[in-house]
Amino acid sequence: MIPTDKFNVHQWFQNNKRSLPWREEKTAYSVWVSEIMLQQTRAAVVVPYFLRWMEAFPSIETLAKAPLDRVIKFWEGLGYYQRARNLHEGAKEIATKHLGIFPKTLEELRQIRGIGPYTANAILAFAYGEKCIPIDGNVKRVLARYFFLEEEITSRKMQKTLEHNGLLIEKESSDPLGEALIELGALICTKKPACFACPLQSGCQAFAKKAQETVPRKKKKTVYERLERAVFLIEYKEQLLVKKNSAGVMQDLFEFPYVTWNKDFSLEAFCQDWGLVIKESMRKPSVFHTFTKFRVTLYPWHLLLRKKPPTRSYNFRKKPELRTLPFSSGHKKILEESLL
Ligand code: ADE
Repeated sequence: MIPTDKFNVHQWFQNNKRSLPWREEKTAYSVWVSEIMLQQTRAAVVVPYFLRWMEAFPSIETLAKAPLDRVIKFWEGLGYYQRARNLHEGAKEIATKHLGIFPKTLEELRQIRGIGPYTANAILAFAYGEKCIPIDGNVKRVLARYFFLEEEITSRKMQKTLEHNGLLIEKESSDPLGEALIELGALICTKKPACFACPLQSGCQAFAKKAQETVPRKKKKTVYERLERAVFLIEYKEQLLVKKNSAGVMQDLFEFPYVTWNKDFSLEAFCQDWGLVIKESMRKPSVFHTFTKFRVTLYPWHLLLRKKPPTRSYNFRKKPELRTLPFSSGHKKILEESLL
């Protein structure tokens, strides 16, 4: 990278960086938590979650000692819940195997549950000031454009080239560049880049070739699948039936009973199948949400029962208690919009 460009990007970062809570006091723990939250989630969404989390679990020790349900509750709504479970497991590993002291080498960091190459490098660079560049999606875009790297963005070859270039830049500079490149990728070098405002414009090869919108080359788009479900708020004596999922993407999250919705759906048939004796049934507003590759529409019914029903694998929980349980996003919306 041209030395003046390095200087420019530093200056730009100092003048334009967003004020974000994880930039205030960087410890290995706070960098770890924030970087895991920032995977798949925008910074503006992460801010309140990060603040609440650091208040509830201010140290590795408090996180390691917390019950999993409480940990998941603080993640509720962020999605990709495996990230929360990994943080919890990782904290327990650090508490037991490393006596509560965060490891300081790439090899040791990589041994911890949920810490991949990006997060390990972020901890080394941001918390310990080491010369390495964590390469996330933002940095990939910046480097691919600056050096005009034409490989498909997720390929192994591209990853190796990016790591090589990233390392080279960092080794040659006196100040760390990693976070400045992340910020540049988040604010300027976006999908449709604002090249006119970019501090790296003069040395950017993609800009020189007017190819900034075709590099980096992307994989094919995700094809979303539609899902439609009828969801049942089955109430008896101020209590509702819920179940905690023991596996799958919704593991550890609570949900109400549901069935696949199609044009043949009949409430009578469902009640008969479940052995429900209904006092009153109410349609509630539909809920839309997206998770992983699914676009989901949920059609909720609130059923008040005359008689205690068979519970199958579900359990009755009192209405006020529902508020304290971690729910999957769609069912949480139903709870908030239809019941609380
Ligand atoms: N995205 C990933 N890491 C980030 C960070 N440290 N600051 C802002 N956005 C980010």
